[in-house]
Amino acid sequence: MISAERRLLLVAACALIDADGRLLIAERPAGKPLAGLWEFPGGKVEPGETPEATLIRELREELGIMTKAACLAPLTFASHSYDDFHLLMPLYICRRYEGIPVPREGQRLKWVRATQLRDYPMPPADEPLIPHLIDLL
Ligand code: C5P
Repeated sequence: MISAERRLLLVAACALIDADGRLLIAERPAGKPLAGLWEFPGGKVEPGETPEATLIRELREELGIMTKAACLAPLTFASHSYDDFHLLMPLYICRRYEGIPVPREGQRLKWVRATQLRDYPMPPADEPLIPHLIDLL
């Protein structure tokens, strides 16, 4: 439940899908909250941004790839209460982008099948997204 006492945090996440139907996940780097857990690329939606604009910016900054809003399709969303905020996180899928993802922020990257996602510990907000990706892929 979304508590009135808790700040609502909006984060946009993206399941990048390659030609073999694999997904890109990134390890949260040391020094960040939830370091060592694996997540879908993305980040906080800044004031005035649409979630699509956030993803276009984050995919460029984190992975050096270019995409556009027309290539981002919303699939589902995560809604999870952490101790100090409630996270609302739309998950988009993206199959069309330019460039090859590289770890521009020192993060480890892996291409995995949807059925392998459970082998990689993810933040609690992200885990409920896995069955949606297994169904899709
Ligand atoms: O990535 P960033 O640290 O800006 O995200 C803010 C918070 O949102 C994280 O500390 C984490 O609690 C949550 N988060 C999450 N799953 C993600 C991304 C962020 O639970 N994939």
